[in-house]
Amino acid sequence: MNSHDKLIDVLLRYIDLSKEEIAEILEIPPRPELGDYAFPCFTLAKSLRQAPQKIALELKDKIEADTDQTAFIERIEVAGAYLNFFIDRSFRAVDVIRRSIAAGDRPGASDKYKGKNIIVEYSSPNIAKPFHVGHAFTTFLGEAIANIYDYQGANVFRFNHLGDYGTQFGKLIVAWKLWGDEAALAENAIKELTRVYVKFHQEAEQKPELEDEAREAFRRLENREEEELELWQQFRDVSLEEFNQIYSRLKINFDNTNGESFYSHLIPEVVSLLQEKDLLIESEGALVVDLEEYGLKPCLVLKSDGSTIYASRDLAAMLYRAKEYDYDLNIYVVGLPQKNHFEQVFAVAKKAGFPKADNNVHVAFGTVKMADGSFSTRSGNVILLEDLLETSVEKTAAIIRSNNDDMPEAELRDSAEKIGLGAVRYAFLRNGRERDIIFSWEEMLDFEGDTAPYLMYTVARCNALARKAGTDILLELQTVSDTALKLLQEDEEQEVLKNIELFPHSLERATLTHEPSVMMRQIMTLARSFNKFYHNQPILRSYNHNLLLARLALTGAVERTLRAGLKLAGIEAVERM
Ligand code: ARG
Repeated sequence: MNSHDKLIDVLLRYIDLSKEEIAEILEIPPRPELGDYAFPCFTLAKSLRQAPQKIALELKDKIEADTDQTAFIERIEVAGAYLNFFIDRSFRAVDVIRRSIAAGDRPGASDKYKGKNIIVEYSSPNIAKPFHVGHAFTTFLGEAIANIYDYQGANVFRFNHLGDYGTQFGKLIVAWKLWGDEAALAENAIKELTRVYVKFHQEAEQKPELEDEAREAFRRLENREEEELELWQQFRDVSLEEFNQIYSRLKINFDNTNGESFYSHLIPEVVSLLQEKDLLIESEGALVVDLEEYGLKPCLVLKSDGSTIYASRDLAAMLYRAKEYDYDLNIYVVGLPQKNHFEQVFAVAKKAGFPKADNNVHVAFGTVKMADGSFSTRSGNVILLEDLLETSVEKTAAIIRSNNDDMPEAELRDSAEKIGLGAVRYAFLRNGRERDIIFSWEEMLDFEGDTAPYLMYTVARCNALARKAGTDILLELQTVSDTALKLLQEDEEQEVLKNIELFPHSLERATLTHEPSVMMRQIMTLARSFNKFYHNQPILRSYNHNLLLARLALTGAVERTLRAGLKLAGIEAVERM
């Protein structure tokens, strides 16, 4: 058990609160002089009707008297209403390193979510439309969340809810028949489809009858008429080919890629379910569910011409997921602008008593901009993920080339690919997800900054230390003694140990809040503390052999923790940089 959990167990003996409540109250102070953990007594003051300082002092005495249980605590200080706990340095050194060795390359992994079926829906680009940076955000965020649940034992189902249906396909079919160019489609499908789609909107301003034709085309598609179905299928296939190239470059795989079209045939079931419960009311010819009691606008289910919409397909998908996957959580990683849409859909599910109606979560995120306001793309002002990735990899290759002129080309290419993609992923994950992202290349690729390259560089540095230590010492390291580990007493070493120890804790917080940034910040703090230690203390030239072993063991633990955190974010570390 780590010092955090051990401390909670001790507190549990003297405080009339549950484990979870104590965990919630227990803080990790921002500065080491305030201890490793701090317990504020305000909550207890209320229930015990006593001054919090008095409670703190009494608790200190009781805990200190309990010498059997508290050997891992070096001392306790009372500061106002707070109990500050200082963990014994030797305990921490041995405990953290031993547990790191035992966990191997899966620090913090657990079976906490064992038996839980968790759907994470992410990416979900739209057929015939560019894969832009907004979809990159859901793709990287969703992937990290799915990985984090998987790491903690859940049965994770990765869903890609392709936008492959809706009235816009009526427009596209009409536009294609009028202006489509087969050769251009073969050359660059999405560009060509975007071209005719944009043209449709321009032309429709003069010729509104085009809109009627589009509605008719979509109606025919819904009736599965051959011509429309074939064209739609073709648009879908060529678009998927492009998306799959991106996914394969990013090594992303989905368990389920049913698009919106797949759910179309399940909508009658949704409609009859809603009718049975008397929830569908007519409004200007359309059918809606009133959501006033939820403080929401009515949710449109069927349009006046009987055609289905985005929300109805989401309701059908939800029913399908509940039946087929019996989910404990159904997570939608979709941008903030769709907040209202999901509130409505979730509310309809509750009102209609859908199975698992309480297990739906919208994990929202902000928007993405370029710092210099510009980005050269092939299709107007959207930033394509493909361009973003390519530029990042190219710029990274140039940086590596200027740093190591002797790296073989193949290794350089491989590293540039991993670092370049890693830098992009990290930029999407480092901050709270609802914050907008302002991209700048200098910032994103700064090897000293708050970046993936910095983290990867630190991993490479750890590996270099191990290589330099040599195989004999590495062999000896496998049986490093507690006596040796207890030599890790310096502030800088203890800071590193503490940050390794906090990794699983950050993972837990990241899971509960669906904020991978919490974990990313923890590995960044760890990397910073390690580099501070590295610059201030000799490692390979430690003054005694046991200390050398202990410091290499610490380095190994840092390496494993950073690598695991990066991997959860979908970032593959490199051996050297
Ligand atoms: N395709 C949509 C878009 O690009 C996102 C789909 C979100 N998922 C959902 N179940 N509605 O905006």
